[in-house]
Amino acid sequence: MRLLVTGAGGQLGHDLVDALSGRVPLGGLRGNRATARLGERVPKEVIGADHSRLDVTDRDAVVAAIDGLRPDVVAHCAAWTAVDACEGDPDRAFATNALGTRNVAEAARRFGAHVVYVSTDYVFDGKADRPYKEWDEPCPMSVYGHSKLAGETELDPGSTIVRTSWVCGAHGSNMVRTVLRLASAKGALKFVDDQVGSPTFTADLAGVISTLCTEHLPGTFHVTNQGTTSWYGFAGAVLAAAGDDPSRVEPISTAQLDPPRPAPRPANSVLDNAVLRLHGMPLLPDWHEGLERLVKVLAESTQSP
Ligand SMILES: NC(=O)c1ccc[n+]([C@@H]2O[C@H](COP(=O)([O-])OP(=O)(O)OC[C@H]3O[C@@H](n4cnc5c(N)ncnc54)[C@H](OP(=O)(O)O)[C@@H]3O)[C@@H](O)[C@H]2O)c1
Repeated sequence: MRLLVTGAGGQLGHDLVDALSGRVPLGGLRGNRATARLGERVPKEVIGADHSRLDVTDRDAVVAAIDGLRPDVVAHCAAWTAVDACEGDPDRAFATNALGTRNVAEAARRFGAHVVYVSTDYVFDGKADRPYKEWDEPCPMSVYGHSKLAGETELDPGSTIVRTSWVCGAHGSNMVRTVLRLASAKGALKFVDDQVGSPTFTADLAGVISTLCTEHLPGTFHVTNQGTTSWYGFAGAVLAAAGDDPSRVEPISTAQLDPPRPAPRPANSVLDNAVLRLHGMPLLPDWHEGLERLVKVLAESTQSP
């Protein structure tokens, strides 16, 4: 089986190339329950294409790449993920996240590849008082959320959509790295306590996406680490995992953010992993576990010469 991963230079793309290639991503679990499935025994050739190798906004380049490589599966991780910057440049957001996905879907259709598209909790408005199921009606609030939902609509019905949330990995910028950087300066840290979600670690997520790629399971899947917290709770847990004092973090409301963020965020980002659960497939571990592992590998990488 040959697999092409777009956006392979990003935090998820990097770990997905590792997981598909049979390597344990940095901060991942050896013998991950979630990856111990049938498709894992299929020999795989994995091609990771980062932004410089394949720009998904370039239709001709996408068609030529998929024609030349003839992958069985395209795992489409490439996206413009700068949520606030997307508000100021909707054309770039839609060119990358929506049209880029149309290009991938068109080329995959032409050459018979299965598409696995990574989407987001931001397709919901966060107003529900319960976790969102795969069958809930999306209603994005931000340009980023609209552009990612537009990407979902470009896919053929047999494709796979993986919606995830609050993504953190060893290769890229994310909330864990931000908190550790801010914590290296003195003083209090302020994070909002009125937005809740499930932090999700690419080293864990990549295992499930790897299974969905190899088994070509169609439809929408919500895939997150289990458990929920606010950004305030998450920041405190990052400090605790790093051996720092979690009480350095102070809770504020979204309305108190100064300056306010350009993009509105869902207050409730919690995704019920209903389809995985109903299929009887293993769920990802609790987010605290993934966080402990990520903080450990980040600490080790700063200590090594
Ligand atoms: N981060 C989150 O919290 C989060 C939450 C839910 C869902 N997701 C989704 O998860 C997926 C992976 O996200 P991530 O956290 O790994 O993001 P990431 O680290 O920003 O990775 C995205 C990658 O896509 C690349 N890219 C941007 N424009 C491109 C283009 N036109 N053509 C090809 N590649 C392009 C970026 O390269 P450059 O940096 O070189 O431009 C980057 O390496 C995305 O689909 C994202 O929408 C992310």
